[in-house]
Formats: sequence, C-alpha cells, structure tokens
Amino acid sequence: MSRVVEARRWERIGAHSHIKGLGLKDGKALPVAAGMVGQLQAREAAGIIVSMVKEGKMAGRAVLLAGPPGTGKTALASAIAKELGEDVPFMMITASEIYSAEMKKTEVLMQAMRKAIGVRLKEVRKIYEGMVTDLEIKTGRHPYNPYQQVPIGAKLRLKTSNEERTFNVDETVAQELIVKGVSRGDVIWIDAETGRVTKLGRCTEAPEEVKYDIEAAPRVPLPGGSIAKEREFVHTVTLHDLDETRAQRGSVFTLLFGGREEREIPPEVRQDVDEKVKRWVEEGRAEIIPGVLFIDEVSALDIEAFSFLGRAMEAELAPVIILATNRGVTKVRGTDIVSPHGIPLDLLDRLLIITTREYTEDEVREILKIRAAEEGVQLEEGALSLLVKLGVENSLRYAVQLLTPSLEVAKLRGRDKVSLEDVEEARRLFVDVKQSMAYLKEYEEKMLK
Ligand SMILES: Nc1ncnc2c1ncn2[C@@H]1O[C@H](COP(=O)(O)OP(=O)(O)OP(=O)(O)O)[C@@H](O)[C@H]1O
Ligand SMILES: [Mg+2]
Repeated sequence: MSRVVEARRWERIGAHSHIKGLGLKDGKALPVAAGMVGQLQAREAAGIIVSMVKEGKMAGRAVLLAGPPGTGKTALASAIAKELGEDVPFMMITASEIYSAEMKKTEVLMQAMRKAIGVRLKEVRKIYEGMVTDLEIKTGRHPYNPYQQVPIGAKLRLKTSNEERTFNVDETVAQELIVKGVSRGDVIWIDAETGRVTKLGRCTEAPEEVKYDIEAAPRVPLPGGSIAKEREFVHTVTLHDLDETRAQRGSVFTLLFGGREEREIPPEVRQDVDEKVKRWVEEGRAEIIPGVLFIDEVSALDIEAFSFLGRAMEAELAPVIILATNRGVTKVRGTDIVSPHGIPLDLLDRLLIITTREYTEDEVREILKIRAAEEGVQLEEGALSLLVKLGVENSLRYAVQLLTPSLEVAKLRGRDKVSLEDVEEARRLFVDVKQSMAYLKEYEEKMLK
C-alpha cells in the first residue's frame, strides 16, 4: 500500500511545481526568486535548516511550520526538498494518509521515517573492461527441448589501450551478452563475480567495418590500463529499501509474516538492517545520510501517533522531521487536552518553530502571475485583479485553483486569454471552502430537522 502514498506525494508536489528552491543569496531571501515570493523570514529560517541538514547537525530534531491557510507552508517544504538536492532523501506525507492505508498507523509512520534516511553504499568490485574485438557465441541443444538452440558459452576478446585478451565465458555471461545486444566495437564491463554485463556504448575506435553512419548508442573512448580492474560503485538507497529487501529474503520472516501481501515489516528485520548498516559504516563501506520527513497537516495526527513520533525522533537513526499546521489552539486528537496547534506539549517543547504570515496584495499578485505562467494561463488585467482580490479575501489557494478552470471557461467561449468574465464564471461554478461549508450547514438544517 505504500505505492498509494508515493503516488499522492507526486500530486502534491504538482501544485508547487513553480518552486525551484528557496531563492536565497548568501543566506538572505530575495523578494522574488526561484518561484518564491515574499515570506522572507520563513525562507531564511528554512535556509538555515537546509544547511544544518546537509552538515548532519539536525538529525533527530524537528521543525514546525505554522501559519494560516495558503501562506506557503507546503510550498516552503517543497523548496526545502529542492535545496537538499537529489541525494538527500525527502519524504512527504499528509498526516491523514497514515489512517487511510491498510497498515497500522505507527507502521506507516515508521516506513515513512525509514524512507527518509539514505544509505550511500560504496562497493569496490572487480571487473573486466574493454572494447569487444571479437565475439563468438557458442550454442548447443536445449537440455529438454531438442528443437531449440541455447547459448552454452562464448569466446570473447577484449581490448584496452594497453592489452588485449581472450576469455572463455560460461552460459550466464553469454546470455547477458545476447540480452544486452553486445557486438564488436562495443565497450563493456563484465562483473568478475556475478558475470553481469554492462554496455557503456560504441567505441570511438571501433574497427571500420563495424562502424555505422548513424548510431543510437553513445560514443565512448577506448578504455586505458589493464583489462582486469577494480572500480568503486556508489549507490544511495533508503533504510526502507533495505528493510524491504531483507524482509523478502529473510526466509523465516517471510514464512511467519507472509511475503508481498502483508507489507508490515517485522521489528527484527529492522534491527537486523540497522546492525548491518552500522557495521558497513564502521568498515567504511557505507555512509548514512539523514534526510527529511515532512508531515503536512499535522493536527490530524492523534496522541498515539504523536507519542510514536516523539520516541522515534530519539532513535539513533532518525531523519529530520518537519511538521506543518494551519491550526491554532485546538484539541489533541484522541484526547480532551487543548494545546497549541493540537500538538502535545512535550513534543511542542522540542520543536524549532517557523511561522508564515499572510501575503500582501502585491505578493498575492506576484504569486498568481508565476502560477499562471506555470499553468500556461494568459490573464487579462481585469481577470488578474479579480483573482488577486479572491486571493486576499478568500484564500490564496482558492485563487490559484481557479486559474485552470478560468482558462477552460475562456476556451469554451472561443478565447485563449482569460478575461474578467471567465474568472467570474469559474468562481460561480466552483465555490471556496467557506461557501461550501455554509451551503452544507444550510442543507443540514433543512434536511435533518
Ligand atoms: N511564497 C510563495 N511563493 C510562491 N508561491 C507560493 C508561496 N506561498 C504559497 N505559494 C503557492 O500558493 C499556493 C498555496 O500555498 P500552500 O499550499 O503552500 O499553502 P499552505 O500554507 O500549505 O496552506 P494550507 O494550510 O491550506 O495547507 C500553492 O500553489 C503554493 O505553491
Ligand atoms: Mg499545506
């Protein structure tokens, strides 16, 4: 069921696709930069969080983004993700998601936390590397099907700038060579241990008779040095990836807890993975990269989820947790305790808090312009003014959401550019939250009494 969570994560980022980063210069927020407008203080604070995460000084700590609806909390989180770069894991969930999945809520949270911790694995492998100067696949009869010929081995000649050697390889490598479509003039690697073949591309020094005028494969130079060499490979996976792999292979656990159907991961597996990762780190084969787990609309978490988070934050391997809320003082879900943002006091005590404030009219205008450009919506001045008014009076999110429907209305009326009337029509058709609540209330009163 984690697949469902992943998909949603995509969609949520979509609404903030215009945001390319925090738009900071030497730690100072530029008024309009990287798709970000205003909210200078919060952006600068977020910049400090990013530096601390990158320097590994934030692990196990937590941040709260607090502010009224539509003031850019989720936008800020997306900007943080962009600033962290590809290599630092960033996992985004909405609090209510932990209740909709078919797993225990603490399990969903745990998985999310482990998806937010990266393990950079360094592995030195022995490989054979060179340009293929000769290749002869040997085929034999299939052991059960006499009419079928199968590869049973190959004779292969590899060349570097220093040497040229002939290898006899077994059927596994032969099959790999066929599957990867290796032919004379290709530069390849063969993993000495597993026989796995990697095709790097066509050699710039491929013999004339196998050179083609048009070739799709990338051009690579003739490798230097000797054919047998050691090479370091680096890949980053998450702790959750390792848990999954371990859980599927671990025969006993698979038996006890079921294989792929049941997605919960037994604690023993996680302990096992943790031990292993720690050992790898000690041996210099791995590096831990604590990433960020962002939990949006955190007031929807209940007391159990909060206490789980509080405990998990203390764990040795924990990501940085960023929470966001637009609630003021409210009840902690699952209790009668009233507390700021609906977050239990003991957790609140440990948070660094960043607040976002309401936008000025000019800022709303700027954001709408950026968003319109992103969605490919052209606005006449009157249309923009009405949207700005709606953004200020109703909510920014509502105004942003009306952009595409307004364009659809304009198209129906045979225009490419959105005018004031189109926005008015879109606004008539799609109400905002306040109106919809008022309607429901009225409806309720009429129907139930
Ligand atoms: N400072 C900003 N610069 C550019 N775009 C912004 C900025 N703030 C918000 N936006 C955009 O405005 C829209 C609404 O903002 P967002 O969803 O981030 O608000 P929020 O604080 O998370 O609201 P909520 O409390 O309702 O979740 C989004 O499309 C967002 O990308
Ligand atoms: Mg939000």
